[in-house]
Amino acid sequence: MSGGRLDWLAGAGTPLRGELSVPGDKSVSHRAVMLAALAEGNSRITGFLEGEDTRATAAIFQRLGVRIEAEGAQRYVHGVGLHGLQPPSGPLDCGNAGTGMRLLTGLLAGQGFASELVGDASLSRRPMGRVIEPLRRMGAEIDSEPGGLPPLRIHANNDLQGIVFESQIASAQIKSAVLLAGLYAAGETAVREPHPTRDYTERMLEAFGWPITFGPGWARLSGGHRLRATDVDVPADFSSAAFFLVAASVIPGSELLLRRVGMNPRRTGLLAALRLMGADITEEKPGEQGGEPVADLRVRHARLRGILVPTDLVPDMIDEFPALFVAAALAEGRTVVSGAAELRVKESDRIAVMTTGLRAWAPGSKKPPTGL
Ligand code: S3P
Repeated sequence: MSGGRLDWLAGAGTPLRGELSVPGDKSVSHRAVMLAALAEGNSRITGFLEGEDTRATAAIFQRLGVRIEAEGAQRYVHGVGLHGLQPPSGPLDCGNAGTGMRLLTGLLAGQGFASELVGDASLSRRPMGRVIEPLRRMGAEIDSEPGGLPPLRIHANNDLQGIVFESQIASAQIKSAVLLAGLYAAGETAVREPHPTRDYTERMLEAFGWPITFGPGWARLSGGHRLRATDVDVPADFSSAAFFLVAASVIPGSELLLRRVGMNPRRTGLLAALRLMGADITEEKPGEQGGEPVADLRVRHARLRGILVPTDLVPDMIDEFPALFVAAALAEGRTVVSGAAELRVKESDRIAVMTTGLRAWAPGSKKPPTGL
């Protein structure tokens, strides 16, 4: 520590060997709290991610009148039913959570009370027009700051209509916001995506008993059904596993076993990319947990080489690019990524942050030939 600032000292490490379980999946944890809150009956969530984002979502539902008890990484959620939320007494704070704010915008758009969603400085700079626009087409009334920025003021509305929404952006958050509004809408709501994204909302709606049909890149449901309480066992987060997959790949002599990692095919693009680079990662004991495919991942050190990352993989590894950039920096040869502009509008500009970090690491390095 110097002057209140925390300095990190890093040095070459020894081989990474052993077994570990990383924390629960963030996307699944958010959705589990949301659907359990709106279900009829009590749900138990195990493996809940103890992170600021997911805690903010749970706290919001408490403010909306839902009883949630915490016991370690478990949450007991006393569901209030689809129409049982209570009007909040003031703004609802999503903290840093883009997923929380976007999904909640959809979910709150069809409530019989008004609400306001706020976030921290970084979330307050993130684009919300991408969810506001389709929700307005469903009849929602949502005010934002200029440019579609938070805070979002959502008016009371009991009159949403289903729509067919062709999204221009491959985003599970947009798709989920529209589907969650669709629970409250008259008629059918359908979403199509330009590239398939993670389908956690769809799978979890199905697990909570809501009739829904979906496949890669599309989903369809209609309003007016009920959610039944269900226990959810959250798989380990592939994003957290990603750092260990890269670290063990690049450090000679390493061998790690990561237990029960969520293997939703829309999340594992990094695995495919690392394998193209020559990584030695095997899947063991494939199974299912909380309606999601899981496996133990065994990773051993391997020599990595640079690749042209297939554009199709980009949405499937959108949260793992920082780890990929580290692998790419240590691989032999050049790695090229394109079609990843969405990285600019995450909680940080992930391209800029990684460029700064990697340059600091190798101060003599040249500027990359083009922007990513
Ligand atoms: C998420 C979807 C992704 C991802 C985010 C979590 C989700 O965002 O980056 O960390 O849980 O739906 P986009 O849908 O905006 O790509």
